[in-house]
Amino acid sequence: MQMLKCKATYTSTVGARTETLSRRVRGNVSVLAVCRNSTKELKTHYRASPCSLPGGFTPPNRDSCVARAAAAEAQSPQGQTGLPFIGETLDILNDPIGYFDQRTKQYGKVFRTRFAGEDCVAVADTKLIQELLNSEHKTVIFEINPSIDKLAESPMFASNERRERNVQKEHKLDRAFLKDFFSPAAIASYYPYMQSSLRKRMASWAEQPEVLVVEATKAFAFDVMNTQLAGIRFTEEQLREMDVLWKDFTNGAMDLLGIDLPWTDFGKGVRAAERLEEIILAALRESYGDKMDTRDFGERNIATGFLMQKNEDGSWKHSLENVASIMKALLFAGHETTAGAMLAMMHFITRNPEVLTALREEQAELVERHGTEITPEILEGTYTEATTVEVMRLQNIDKTTRSPGLLFRRAISDFELGGYSIKKGTKIMLAQVYSTYSVEKFLPTVEQFQPERWLVPGKSAVATSKSVGVSAFGGGPRVCAGEALAWAELKVFLSMLVRNLDWEILNPDAEWRKSQGSINRTPVDGMATRFVKRAEAIN
Ligand code: HEM
Repeated sequence: MQMLKCKATYTSTVGARTETLSRRVRGNVSVLAVCRNSTKELKTHYRASPCSLPGGFTPPNRDSCVARAAAAEAQSPQGQTGLPFIGETLDILNDPIGYFDQRTKQYGKVFRTRFAGEDCVAVADTKLIQELLNSEHKTVIFEINPSIDKLAESPMFASNERRERNVQKEHKLDRAFLKDFFSPAAIASYYPYMQSSLRKRMASWAEQPEVLVVEATKAFAFDVMNTQLAGIRFTEEQLREMDVLWKDFTNGAMDLLGIDLPWTDFGKGVRAAERLEEIILAALRESYGDKMDTRDFGERNIATGFLMQKNEDGSWKHSLENVASIMKALLFAGHETTAGAMLAMMHFITRNPEVLTALREEQAELVERHGTEITPEILEGTYTEATTVEVMRLQNIDKTTRSPGLLFRRAISDFELGGYSIKKGTKIMLAQVYSTYSVEKFLPTVEQFQPERWLVPGKSAVATSKSVGVSAFGGGPRVCAGEALAWAELKVFLSMLVRNLDWEILNPDAEWRKSQGSINRTPVDGMATRFVKRAEAIN
């Protein structure tokens, strides 16, 4: 218990007034400023210490006003923790929407649960999720599942045990450095390669009796990430070996138990991570090993960029081994996720032929107006872009394609969130999937595939989705570093697909499962598809 004293200055239409308010409080408090002649209450939340109220509160349309402050203890989130150890993990993973729907009705949008062996607080409200994402290093810190943390082992994803180190500063520097590779100009410069790569790939798909789209899209996304940004020159043999290793790596990263034994997914993931790092290191050595003294590489990509970074004392910051580890994390983050979205795209479009027709009409028009070259400008605000956004919205919600869509943070101080007290050290689950599901204006059609909902004249569909709080890419300082690249790949992929190919998904009712080697659910048959070049293919 402590005595809270607040000096509150409010400006009303009759002038400024200052009051000293005192109240006995424990932990966090809510301070209410109330205009006496109005029913309207303006509420702000403060931590008890240090306590201050902002000046400059203008009450609504009243001549006289008295400020009153009341401090109330924020309440602890209510909830249930389910089974011993695993808690409610299975309910959450099996049916995230149903689970959050039920619990939020029972306990509100901030409640207690137990996930993957640890008690945590779940947050299922769009505004509060945004508040948490923006509070990185103020009240919370990035947290990912410890298995990913251990396998990725990079400051890019640093959390958990490595939280004690000066991760914030390192992370800020890394993000600032990466910005150059994801700027609008940089992204625009990747379009020609993406288009020409898809031209070749799609021509070859049309010549095969069937294509496993799960593999084909991963190969495309990996190639773009690596050739355009990372700058590591792998041999065909290395690429083939890595193909298998990424699957083990991903299974290990998704293994919540994290027990390192030769037969567990996590154990296999550890071995795969080590071997991946060896291969990346060998490829880096081959390209840059002989220039490590001067570090005059004569080319700029993410790998050379990291190698050229210096410490404050002028010494080189990263060894080749270090950079191999960073690149492993980046390559992992950059290909599997985007490829998963391409699968969902094919799934939804195949089931909604009227969307395919509209896309084809638009693409034909775009080609007539601008020629066959795809640029970011010609796709902005189009039905094609709106379709991409709708895929990203529905992918996490749809019963077939959905994944749990959870992000995690850890409280680094006691704080108050939406009237609830969160204690230092608490693991916080951000149910982004549920907040996407519960956008009120979409509720009647929330499970339908409707690209039109993102068509706002003169506005990019991506920007519109952000303005209603829908994003599959997180937010705040830890927002997905590759978001702009992912949007670009998805838009170019969609344009090239509908322009050039007809297709038949051979087992349209194949079950989608959180299958081996994948972060997302994927069709169990790898989405075996027969592609045919369209008679009116427009490239
Ligand atoms: C559809 C594709 C993608 C989706 C849905 C996705 C989703 C996400 C999400 C939700 C986060 C934030 C996690 C959190 O806040 O807890 C994240 C982080 C990250 N993503 Fe992506 N991502 C995608 C593609 C990419 C690509 C293409 C790259 C390329 C490099 C990438 C690199 C990263 C990195 C480096 C982080 C960590 C950022 C940081 O901690 O500062 N992602 N991604």
